[in-house]
Amino acid sequence: MCGIVGYVGNRPALNVILDGLRRLEYRGYDSAGVAVLDGRGGLAVERKAGQLRNLEARLDELDVPFEGTAGMGHTRWATHGGPTDRNAHPHRDGTGKVAVVHNGIIENFAPLRAELEAAGVELTSDTDTEAAAHLVARAYADGPTAGDLAASVRAVCRRLHGAFTLLFTHAEHPDMIVAARRSSPLVVGLGEGETFLASDVAAFIEHTRDAVELGQDQVVTIRRDGYDVTDLDGNPAEAKPFRVTWDLAAAEKGGHDYFMLKEIEEQPTAVANTLRGHLTDRRIVLDEQRLADGDLRDVDKVFVVACGTAYHSGLLAKYAIEHWTRLPVEVELASEFRYRDPVLDRQTLVVAISQSGETMDTLEAVRHAKEQKARVLAICNTNGAQIPRESDAVLYTHAGPEIGVAATKTFTSQIAANYLVGLALAQARGTKYPDEVAREFAELEAMPDAMAAALDGVEAARELARDLAPSRAVLFLGRHVGFPVALEGALKLKELAYMHAEAFAAGELKHGPIALIEDGLPVVVVMPSPKGRAVLHAKLLSNIQEITARGARTVVIAEEGDETIRPFAHHLLEVPAVPTLLQPLVSTVPLQVLAAEIARARGYDVDKPRNLAKSVTVE
Ligand code: F6R
Repeated sequence: MCGIVGYVGNRPALNVILDGLRRLEYRGYDSAGVAVLDGRGGLAVERKAGQLRNLEARLDELDVPFEGTAGMGHTRWATHGGPTDRNAHPHRDGTGKVAVVHNGIIENFAPLRAELEAAGVELTSDTDTEAAAHLVARAYADGPTAGDLAASVRAVCRRLHGAFTLLFTHAEHPDMIVAARRSSPLVVGLGEGETFLASDVAAFIEHTRDAVELGQDQVVTIRRDGYDVTDLDGNPAEAKPFRVTWDLAAAEKGGHDYFMLKEIEEQPTAVANTLRGHLTDRRIVLDEQRLADGDLRDVDKVFVVACGTAYHSGLLAKYAIEHWTRLPVEVELASEFRYRDPVLDRQTLVVAISQSGETMDTLEAVRHAKEQKARVLAICNTNGAQIPRESDAVLYTHAGPEIGVAATKTFTSQIAANYLVGLALAQARGTKYPDEVAREFAELEAMPDAMAAALDGVEAARELARDLAPSRAVLFLGRHVGFPVALEGALKLKELAYMHAEAFAAGELKHGPIALIEDGLPVVVVMPSPKGRAVLHAKLLSNIQEITARGARTVVIAEEGDETIRPFAHHLLEVPAVPTLLQPLVSTVPLQVLAAEIARARGYDVDKPRNLAKSVTVE
């Protein structure tokens, strides 16, 4: 949800900023813009609607040299104001001396804009952001903060409601950037004689791995030789230094046409990394556990809250946690959770699943749960993100950076992490003996190999994709753990191939959806194991016959060796046989490939589907 880069150093800033933006484009690509301070009192700004390449083409056409060793850039996911040139960031004040880039939403932008207009300020965009540039310029020009950029930024930020990461430059301060954050990410990168600011370390990992994570409501001033941090009142504040453990290669495409295709292939490693180190002495150990064992023992109800793909992983958590612990589990879309007054208390465990750790719907659900005294455990892929910071405990998935907008390896890693939570609860409540916990863990540990085998078999899905690409719609059917997999398969197809795709619990078919079946309609069916789930297998086999009789073209995901299915599948995609609860880890793989390849065949950008962004920091 908008990517931000800032740089103060000795190198030409423009190149550093554009390289950084390229790595942050997953956060939004409705427009891009840069501002460079030339060191002589000039501030050059250029911005362009569309992907970063449009801005780069524009910069190539210009004869104005963007010289200077300090500046900032922005790649936008539009919220307030359409994705046009005039709404692209950076925004400037009327004198052109102050520039701002912003990630988040300034909720009280309307009264602030009205106040500025009443004072005769001409606003040139439809955004919530522009007001911040004018307000900082006015605070800098006059009054108690005059001539002090950091103090002006603090004074303005104290007036802002909502979520923001804001970076400000002033033409009179060519060697500094002042930034502030609230509920939106911001990290500082510390190089040799150069300092960076970014929404995500990926923007500067090429230059340095030494980083500092800003806290809530902090303001940072960066210079060539360092940084200082205060709170919004100007008191010195502590920010958390850390060293990035992954390298540039992890954020590059590694020979693949798209990040998503690389990330699909990385799934066995990602799941292995999620599991690594979590079983010691036949005991499950979670990461940052600010919950005592007794807290887990006392849990009498579990809520899982998440959005999108993470929600689908949460649906799977229910099967495992209820089965292993006998605790009731409710899985809820984070955006619905707090608005329906769920019954929560100290004995409720809320598991918040979020790859980015920034999703505003999930963050607000966490805050609501905490207000009601529930314990919150986050499952997250991004170290130090806001959701884990505000939770009582965190289990990191360690899947590595996921750049493709569509979640793949983080989905399967979340499934593994959910199961670890289930085992941790079972162990704390004594519903599983240590030997049983160790046995379940060993089955999980065998999954990376099974997923690698599933990946070896995806050629059939690739070929089928070319065939299915012209279809108007695709239906997905599943039962038990196959149902969330069907939902995820349909979501991937919608978001990547822009096709109408809908998933149903197969048992529901006869209650309405069967009316959708018409001649030639592709229907993807996720089959359970004929051995592990014989009764459900038989029922799905009947469903397949019912839809085939009505003209459906069936694409069946089935366990290797499931011969009973062959006569009824127009297309068969086989996956390795694994224990029932773990089947989603393999059956998801061909569905991810199918969606990516159909999108490719339809000529769409697999990594940057239209209208989407990787992390959704607005409600
Ligand atoms: C779909 C997708 C989204 C995310 C959702 C939650 O491929 O990626 O549906 O799963 O926006 O994001 P996180 O996990 O960052 O909270």
